[in-house]
Amino acid sequence: MTVPKSEYLSNVWADGIFANRVVFITGGAGTIGSAQTRALVHLGADACIIGRNVEKTEAAAKEIAKVRSGARVLGLGGVDVRDFNSLNTAANRCVKELGAIDFVIAGAAGNFIAPISGLSPNAFKSVIDIDTIGTFNTIKATVPHLIASAARNPNPNPASTTGGRFLSVSATFHYTGMPLQAHVSAAKAAVDALMGSLALEYSPYGITANSLAPGAIEGTEGMSRLASSAMMSSDRGKMVPLGRWGRVRDIADATVYLFSDAGNYVNGTTLVVDGAGWRRQGGA
Ligand code: HXC
Repeated sequence: MTVPKSEYLSNVWADGIFANRVVFITGGAGTIGSAQTRALVHLGADACIIGRNVEKTEAAAKEIAKVRSGARVLGLGGVDVRDFNSLNTAANRCVKELGAIDFVIAGAAGNFIAPISGLSPNAFKSVIDIDTIGTFNTIKATVPHLIASAARNPNPNPASTTGGRFLSVSATFHYTGMPLQAHVSAAKAAVDALMGSLALEYSPYGITANSLAPGAIEGTEGMSRLASSAMMSSDRGKMVPLGRWGRVRDIADATVYLFSDAGNYVNGTTLVVDGAGWRRQGGA
């Protein structure tokens, strides 16, 4: 079933702003990742989505390609971000088939609910491996292509960033500490730290690097893992300062902003998209 545009993109963006741009996204078949990709493809980009599950990744690519006639969306399944070589091969294949990598989203993540007492060393390591090492592997596999992107897309506007964009999908748990999420909190703190170093080292190439931290987004796999449907009722959503749960479209719109010319000077930071929810984490 084709997803209606209003579910993944608001009406404020001009068609074609991402024409000739290619996005490479890990976790691109997930709920948030596919909404981000749909939005970018709708606005002119081609995309390569990476995932562990072959069928799920290929099906998501086919579905996303329907949003714009002529869109090229490559689904590369069987790729685990913990395995640098397979990720590197996927990045090279993306460039071979789609011509470039201009934007990267490191969206692959692992999560489950567990207290520290219930986390084996391997359980903790698994989430660090997927989220933190996986983001590092994604950087290593794609940064050479992001450097090439600047040369491929010289922007005539001198105020404009000409290079590639790197975006990692983070979280807000580490701002306050979060019970049952020690593993993810530690992993995402490291991801945010990585973005700072990436921004400083690669700004000379016109590359920007940021994190995007979603709050509780309804309808996502992450939320279904973390909360029961009773906890996700719209009544409970009223406790978020803005009075509702987040929607995938909120994250897609923020992604479009960061990759558009409007986001040119946003670098080395985290954009929190959570209705101010993290300020009430812990019940304040
Ligand atoms: C305690 C657990 C556990 C649980 C797994 N483990 N589930 N420990 N409680 N509920 C332990 C296992 O026992 C094992 O340790 C270790 O974790 C690795 O488990 P495997 O199943 O062998 O690993 P793997 O197949 O690689 O799976 C990785 C995973 C899994 C992270 C455990 O959940 C996964 O693949 N997730 C990917 C999809 C996902 O999580 N998406 C949601 C992302 S949402 P031992 O010691 O037994 O070997 C998200 C949102 C964050 O990140 C923020 C939202 C606001």
